[in-house]
Amino acid sequence: MNSIKMSEDLKNLLYSIPEIDVESLLGSYQKPMRESIRINTLKAREEDVLYMLKEKGVELEKIPWARYGYWVLNDVNISNTIEHMLGLVYIQGAVSMAPVEVLSPKPGELVLDLCAAPGSKTTQIAQFMQGEGVIVANDVNLKRIRALSSNVQRCGIINCIITQADGRRFPLWAKGFFDKVLVDAPCTSLGIVSKDWGAAKKWSFRASERLSKLQLSLAISGFECLKVGGTMVYATCTLSPQENEWVIDRLIASKPNARLESINLEGLKMKKGLLEWQHEKFNPEIERCVRVYPYEHEAEGFFMAKIVKESDGP
Ligand SMILES: C[S@@+](CC[C@H](N)C(=O)[O-])C[C@H]1O[C@@H](n2cnc3c(N)ncnc32)[C@H](O)[C@@H]1O
Repeated sequence: MNSIKMSEDLKNLLYSIPEIDVESLLGSYQKPMRESIRINTLKAREEDVLYMLKEKGVELEKIPWARYGYWVLNDVNISNTIEHMLGLVYIQGAVSMAPVEVLSPKPGELVLDLCAAPGSKTTQIAQFMQGEGVIVANDVNLKRIRALSSNVQRCGIINCIITQADGRRFPLWAKGFFDKVLVDAPCTSLGIVSKDWGAAKKWSFRASERLSKLQLSLAISGFECLKVGGTMVYATCTLSPQENEWVIDRLIASKPNARLESINLEGLKMKKGLLEWQHEKFNPEIERCVRVYPYEHEAEGFFMAKIVKESDGP
């Protein structure tokens, strides 16, 4: 088996976070992730789709933390099935279903998905909203928006507006407007290296730090678009504290009306947010953020923070 080439910076990063089981992490980087799907109940009843897939010999097992989420247990190419083409199923990583579970959008709400393409989480949000309310799905990248648009259509979603804008500009038009906001930020992708070995080879502290400034601006922008009482989830699929705890620490420092809430999802193995890293101490509330490591479920690694806007503020 080929082994992954890791930059020196990445080795230093991994050993700077004592709770990471580096051996297990490197092992997980070399293996494909377990396949998982979400049954799209906007188009058909869950039990009917399950029956159709079973008839084809697809073996499934429920993912405990994801409504409508299933592990695929046998070797079948789901993307070639008619059920997939018709939008009855959506192929989505099991841990990537967690941020929308934490956000828990409801029918009738106004929801902003600030970095939405190619639409795994937008289509999941739409499913939770059952066709009532409005989702604004935004991304800056037109090529990726094409994939988002095609996924939204394939899944039969009728209450989604797609926009192309730099997410940092959103408060100019939508300050205080949304019940829920998802910021699934662009990141250095250390939670999905088994899909993209390049992420490990080119990882650097400098790139991570540069990206963290964009992430912080996007998080602030998303927070400003919330109504009072609204909830935002900030998520990344990377392990770097600079792009995770640091961003949330700075967000709550600049927004005294932001409160971090704890996250509980049945069956998902999570670690608390780090309170210090490389001589930097974070706000003790950061413990309410969560980290999921790729080796825990043979799936993606993720970081999530759930933030409520308590009052009007700066
Ligand atoms: C992690 S991906 C989002 C994945 C998506 N939420 C999903 O579940 O399918 C991050 C996205 O952020 C977008 N992005 C990068 N910079 C942005 C910006 N300034 N404003 C809005 N979106 C941005 C990228 O084009 C990319 O599609």
